[in-house]
Amino acid sequence: MKLLSIFPLLSLFWASVAVPYAEYILAPSSRTIHPISIHSYNGSVSNPESLTGSSGSSVFEGNAAIAYDFGKNIAGVVTLEIGSISDANQYIGVTFSESSLWVSNKSSDATADAGKDQTLWFKLTGPGTYTAPREKERGGFRYMTLVHNATGSVEVTEALIHFTPMPHWEDDALANYTGYFHTDDELLNRIWYAGAYTNQLCTIDPKHGDALIHLGEINSSVSDAVNVTWYYNYTITEGSSALVDGAKRDKLVWAGDMAIAVPAIVVSTDDVISIENSLNSLFAVQNTTTGQLPYAGRPFFPILSFTYHLYTLIGVADHYQYTGDLDYASSLWNQWKLGLNFSLGFIDDSGMMNVTSPPDWLRFGMGGHNIEANSILYYTIYQGIALAEALNDTEPISSWEKTAETIKAAANQLLWNEAVGMFVDNETTTLTPQDGNSWAVVSNITTNFSQVESISVKLAERWTPYGAPAPEAADAISPFISGFELQTHFKANNVTAALALIRLQWGFMLDDPRMTNSTFIEGYSTTGELHYAPYLNDARISHAHGWATGPTSSLTFFVAGIQILSAGGKTWRVAPNLGDLKFADAGFSTSLGKFSAKTQISDGALQIDFEAPAGTTGEVTIPSISCAGTMLVQKINGYGEDIKVDIINPNVPLSLAGVAGGQWNIKFSCA
Ligand SMILES: *[C@@H]1O[C@H](CO)[C@@H](O)[C@H](O)[C@H]1NC(C)=O
Ligand SMILES: *[C@@H]1O[C@H](CO)[C@@H](O)[C@H](O)[C@H]1NC(C)=O
Ligand SMILES: *[C@@H]1O[C@H](CO)[C@@H](O)[C@H](O)[C@H]1NC(C)=O
Ligand SMILES: *[C@@H]1O[C@H](CO)[C@@H](O)[C@H](O)[C@H]1NC(C)=O
Ligand SMILES: *[C@@H]1O[C@H](CO)[C@@H](O)[C@H](O)[C@H]1NC(C)=O
Ligand SMILES: *[C@@H]1O[C@H](CO)[C@@H](O)[C@H](O)[C@H]1NC(C)=O
Ligand SMILES: *[C@@H]1O[C@H](CO)[C@@H](O)[C@H](O)[C@H]1NC(C)=O
Ligand SMILES: *[C@@H]1O[C@H](CO)[C@@H](O)[C@H](O)[C@H]1NC(C)=O
Ligand SMILES: *[C@@H]1O[C@H](CO)[C@@H](O)[C@H](O)[C@H]1NC(C)=O
Ligand SMILES: *[C@@H]1O[C@H](CO)[C@@H](O)[C@H](O)[C@H]1NC(C)=O
Ligand SMILES: *[C@@H]1O[C@H](CO)[C@@H](O)[C@H](O)[C@H]1NC(C)=O
Repeated sequence: MKLLSIFPLLSLFWASVAVPYAEYILAPSSRTIHPISIHSYNGSVSNPESLTGSSGSSVFEGNAAIAYDFGKNIAGVVTLEIGSISDANQYIGVTFSESSLWVSNKSSDATADAGKDQTLWFKLTGPGTYTAPREKERGGFRYMTLVHNATGSVEVTEALIHFTPMPHWEDDALANYTGYFHTDDELLNRIWYAGAYTNQLCTIDPKHGDALIHLGEINSSVSDAVNVTWYYNYTITEGSSALVDGAKRDKLVWAGDMAIAVPAIVVSTDDVISIENSLNSLFAVQNTTTGQLPYAGRPFFPILSFTYHLYTLIGVADHYQYTGDLDYASSLWNQWKLGLNFSLGFIDDSGMMNVTSPPDWLRFGMGGHNIEANSILYYTIYQGIALAEALNDTEPISSWEKTAETIKAAANQLLWNEAVGMFVDNETTTLTPQDGNSWAVVSNITTNFSQVESISVKLAERWTPYGAPAPEAADAISPFISGFELQTHFKANNVTAALALIRLQWGFMLDDPRMTNSTFIEGYSTTGELHYAPYLNDARISHAHGWATGPTSSLTFFVAGIQILSAGGKTWRVAPNLGDLKFADAGFSTSLGKFSAKTQISDGALQIDFEAPAGTTGEVTIPSISCAGTMLVQKINGYGEDIKVDIINPNVPLSLAGVAGGQWNIKFSCA
């Protein structure tokens, strides 16, 4: 009797911990997905709208096509149910596109450098079920067009997609996020969830990476081709899931992209295993003599990128920072040190690293004493020092510190342009890059706060109506590098600039009708054209790229203000910074437990409710208040004593250190 009575209690418990704000989650509740509406159609088709459900009947006669809209970007394997057919010489073709720009009866959008991808044809031998082979799953499409190409007729009774991302999660659990975010700004809310969903679409079955059969064939003679072959059947990592750069392409492991995607994943799904599988695949092909790590995972060319090499090392440090899993860091530590030494070997008399191989995030002019690469190196060295301390391998620390400070001194002496108030790309140019200036702030290679403020102001002055440009990549807006620019504005304490950039750039990426209204694009032009300077082929641009999800972590860390400072949250900071918002509520979980912070501001009053796991400690920074009054900091549940603070000096943020984990409530009102 007693045991049985537990069950109703358990289900009550589940109901009470349902994911907050779940109505914003874009992940489907089931892996079986039908179109939601018709984009357009051609020729003789009856009842096209009937295929938006699970039992329809649409008859195609002669040359005819229907383009369906799923309302958001999805990925998976198509199945068609065929009813009656007129004769044995009938086909139905299927084409896919992420953007409405490439909806077509002839081809899908592109995965190769030129041309468009060939139609997936089903030869119909009679009524029945036709499912695409698994290498013909399509990663990333919002639109699917069914094409009939002959005299005679075909009845289609159902068109469905089996959703394949997040293969290691239960079919009914794709929306079971560990994190949430909410404010009084609907656009910011949608942007946070679109970032989380973008990374889910970029989490794939590692047996279905892009085979890259046309890699490097940039050939204008096939630029008009609509029959480029494609399949996704290359095994890119061990394990049952992998984090890749994009849903449609490259479906490969790229460490640079992970620098933005990983923190966004931590605050939304906490899908650590996919991150590990991807990092492992890069270390598996490290050159054990030199320590060199690959630009990208298999089957990409084995070429050197100074920055992506370092991003792989940062991946291990991030993993430790967000999980506290010392065993994982320890398992890679010797390879990590070998990798860092590889980079340190390129430091010359100037004190900086001389970049001798240009590959980076597809900017141009990555070479010499480049500010971005040296900032990333400076940052990586300090990540290494933190890991060395955690692993008690203190021997290399003093030499690493000395090297880092030499890089910093040289970068400031040779590359800081005081008149402009920014860093130049290298000592032979006046170009002031977005990547290097953002990374200079993120890495703390700056020597004083006025540099940080100046970089933030100068970057903001360059925005176009479509976002923050990257002059180091010709005519390009890079949602990847803009993710680091966002962090720059937050570090400059200009939350107004950061929120303005999110609304401007990510608002465009979400709401423009050529976009998917659900995932974030890889790159585009400063004029808002969906042309990305490094690519000849506009149809190739990925509309679901994890590197474009910067706001998801930034909004949680810097607006709601929950920051992990070390080892999975052993130490943390709560520092809400709401800008023009009145309300921010966020939370996420790590292996240590749950972190959350809810802040409400109204005229003359402020309230913060926050929580951190038992056994952790943190600091709390309360936003500045424009009046005098009394603040009560109350322990609701957990450890530590209530704190009563008389605010003597308004307008200055107030910090409390040594706050123990537990649930806390802070209340302030003007006297
Ligand atoms: C329809 O397309 C299929 C697949 O490409 C092709 O084999 C068939 O000949 C086409 N039918 C006509 C009438 O063009
Ligand atoms: C996912 O969440 C749903 C709804 O709350 C719940 O019914 C289901 O059991 C969860 N699945 C898993 C695997 O946790
Ligand atoms: C692909 O299309 C091009 C023209 O665009 C044509 O030359 C070529 O033969 C076609 N290849 C196949 C395999 O159909
Ligand atoms: C991928 O699929 C294609 C087409 O079926 C096949 O030719 C190729 O051998 C497969 N590659 C791998 C690595 O399985
Ligand atoms: C490792 O790098 C060395 C030096 O560049 C090179 O000779 C060797 O072939 C590389 N090893 C592998 C497995 O690529
Ligand atoms: C220095 O920067 C400029 C501007 O980005 C670039 O054109 C040039 O190639 C860079 N120098 C080297 C050695 O890479
Ligand atoms: C960087 O190294 C290359 C290759 O050794 C050399 O040609 C170049 O002059 C160096 N650049 C700088 C800025 O020292
Ligand atoms: C590092 O040393 C500290 C203090 O001696 C010890 O508590 C800790 O377990 C050690 N950590 C590792 C990974 O050896
Ligand atoms: C940034 O670097 C300065 C030294 O230039 C150091 O004093 C400061 O602690 C660093 N800040 C952080 C957050 O590491
Ligand atoms: C913050 O950024 C906004 C928007 O770019 C700008 O107008 C404002 O001057 C900046 N504030 C400071 C203190 O730099
Ligand atoms: C975009 O998606 C949101 C849901 O995330 C929906 O409310 C809105 O209507 C969609 N906008 C368009 C133009 O489809």
